[in-house]
Amino acid sequence: MIVCICNNITDKDLKYLILKTGGDLDLIKSISGAGSSCGSCLEDIVKVIKDNIDESRDNDDLGSMADSRNGNRRKGVKFP
Ligand code: FES
Repeated sequence: MIVCICNNITDKDLKYLILKTGGDLDLIKSISGAGSSCGSCLEDIVKVIKDNIDESRDNDDLGSMADSRNGNRRKGVKFP
């Protein structure tokens, strides 16, 4: 689903950028241009960030549990 029409940025693009930037809105805007033209998508971008930061924290908790079972060895995460 396209979130930022001006810059053709999808929710999938945003999720990738959130993983890469830790959800830093200014960094996401400067990398992708999302939200920096008309600005009407900013509220939706912030919502995607909030939803996915919470989700990544949940996943991190699960990852921590898995790490403790594997002697705290973390496996690298590959991005598309
Ligand atoms: S729709 Fe995102 S800047 Fe215009």
